[in-house]
Amino acid sequence: MTVRLDKYICESTGLTRSLAKRALKRGEIKVDGIMVKDASLQLVDGSIVTFNDEVIQVLGNRYIMLHKPQGYICSTQDEVHQSVLNLLDVPQVEKLHIAGRLDVDTTGLVLITDDGQWSHQVTSPKKQCAKRYRVELADPVTEDLIEPFATGLALRGEDNLTLPAKLEILASHEALLTINEGKYHQVKRMFAAVGNKVVALHREQIGAIELDSDLAEGEWRMLTAAEVASIGA
Ligand code: URA
Repeated sequence: MTVRLDKYICESTGLTRSLAKRALKRGEIKVDGIMVKDASLQLVDGSIVTFNDEVIQVLGNRYIMLHKPQGYICSTQDEVHQSVLNLLDVPQVEKLHIAGRLDVDTTGLVLITDDGQWSHQVTSPKKQCAKRYRVELADPVTEDLIEPFATGLALRGEDNLTLPAKLEILASHEALLTINEGKYHQVKRMFAAVGNKVVALHREQIGAIELDSDLAEGEWRMLTAAEVASIGA
């Protein structure tokens, strides 16, 4: 979705077209933190427009990828840990939620949005949105595990077997695991079920969205339109 900047200012503030133009001329309008004077600028989903440094409104839905560092939690802040949402310097952060949580000690790709239907596509096991993890293990990981992971494992406290998962062995203590669901501590519990222990866990990919290698831990960026559209496609 795109919309002309002057039209957007009028609709979100009630200013007339000529007053909106005057505000632009005076440098009172910023888009994503940069002063803009061009009334015909096309805003895209997620653009943040300010008028005298007050957010007028955020256009459309927002879709963000974050490289989560260790030590941050994916729920609201507790006494010990900060929430990953504290890493985002965006307005109206309280309107955002996390599409698929990671444990405090897990690093990697976290998707954040204010679009509940979109995040449901990411998290619902029925939607079969694959998540790929790089896993380091305490004990050697062997080829004979590929089949039980593909068939389904019995996790402690669960009635059903895990959905088929793809295990790729990279080195004696390192593997990629792709799963289509997100039970509590799922990857750690899957390896526990076969007598191993996860010592480091990093999420690399969700659906077709790969963690951007330009993002250092703690950094984030808006998703591209193609990345947003790839979920549920
Ligand atoms: N599985 C886990 O065990 N932990 C995570 O953070 C994600 C998947």
